[in-house]
Amino acid sequence: MKGLILSGGKGTRLRPLTVTGAKQLVPVANKPVIFYAIEDLVEAGISEIGIVIGDTGDQVRAAIGDGSAFGARVTYIPQDAPRGLAHGVMISRDFLGDDRFVLFLGDNFIRDGIVPLVEEFRTGSANCQILLYRVSNPEAFGVADLRGNRVVKVVEKPKIPPSDLALIGIYMFDHHVFDAIREIRPSARGELEITDTIQVLIDQGFDVVPKVIAGWWIDTGKHADMLEANRLILETQEPAMLGRVDEGSQIYGRVVVQRGAEIRNSVIRGPAIIGEDTRIIDSYVGPFSSIYHHCLVQGSEIEHSIILEHSQIVDVPHRIEESLIGRYVEISRSPIKPRAYKLWLGDFTKVGIL
Ligand code: TTP
Repeated sequence: MKGLILSGGKGTRLRPLTVTGAKQLVPVANKPVIFYAIEDLVEAGISEIGIVIGDTGDQVRAAIGDGSAFGARVTYIPQDAPRGLAHGVMISRDFLGDDRFVLFLGDNFIRDGIVPLVEEFRTGSANCQILLYRVSNPEAFGVADLRGNRVVKVVEKPKIPPSDLALIGIYMFDHHVFDAIREIRPSARGELEITDTIQVLIDQGFDVVPKVIAGWWIDTGKHADMLEANRLILETQEPAMLGRVDEGSQIYGRVVVQRGAEIRNSVIRGPAIIGEDTRIIDSYVGPFSSIYHHCLVQGSEIEHSIILEHSQIVDVPHRIEESLIGRYVEISRSPIKPRAYKLWLGDFTKVGIL
């Protein structure tokens, strides 16, 4: 089997982070989101992986390279514009050949990996396997209508949902999917939709099998989801100390301090991760914080936040919470009001605060 990861798209919901960067490279627990997808595929025995790339393709290539670091062989497939998930599959026809494959959206997370699901599809006779997750707001998702162990209908964002089973961004197909994509037309938003493709497979009598997953699933397309994914991953990490901590500092709970990091006169309360060559000085870093590499947090307090590389937070007088801060951001003390911090800042942003 092969893997196909979609890593193009516009990422409008994650602006401004996606103005200059690929959303699939935003780190969750200090690791780019897309790395988890690659690892899930490799863990399931899939090492031939195609990655569909768009405007941010150069960054994605630079981060992943030829895939050997993951034990994979990666082929990049440029997409001229985000014309839909099914379009991403269509342009990957040569790479995929007649092999069965897993389609994995590069910003999706699944707690328990895909090993048994891939095994079942690999050895079974189904033409397509979709993964489903019970949600409280199915009207916001593609939703499946089931009869026993068969999918009879998939509907995109239904006003009256036929079930609470949302389609998650991991699908398995055989080569019949290419004929199905030829049958569909762009939707109202101008994209070739994967749900329309699956509906064609169902209508043509192909075997579309549902798998309801138990562990959590997150689509990190939005700010709050990114923080939630970060929280969930940090909760499961094993503590590790590869940096330096001075005598005036205290570390509690599941904390990872990566190589070259320095903690001075500070309190770190896990779960949290401090990235390579990052310095935490006279500060408090609270639960669910991921601070990426080459950052400086000095004289400040931060909790439940993600900070990307090379950013600096210095002498901020109020605690920063629930924030997603881009690369090369500088936040430092200034006399300007208001006196509350709730930040969602893009790359290279500079903010003056109280
Ligand atoms: P989406 O999150 O549906 O789309 P998007 O990335 O454009 O984001 P937004 O809605 O915020 O503008 O895409 C899911 C994944 O698929 C994501 O990793 C991007 C990727 N993708 C492609 O590679 N090509 C495409 O044509 C589309 C639509 C998405």
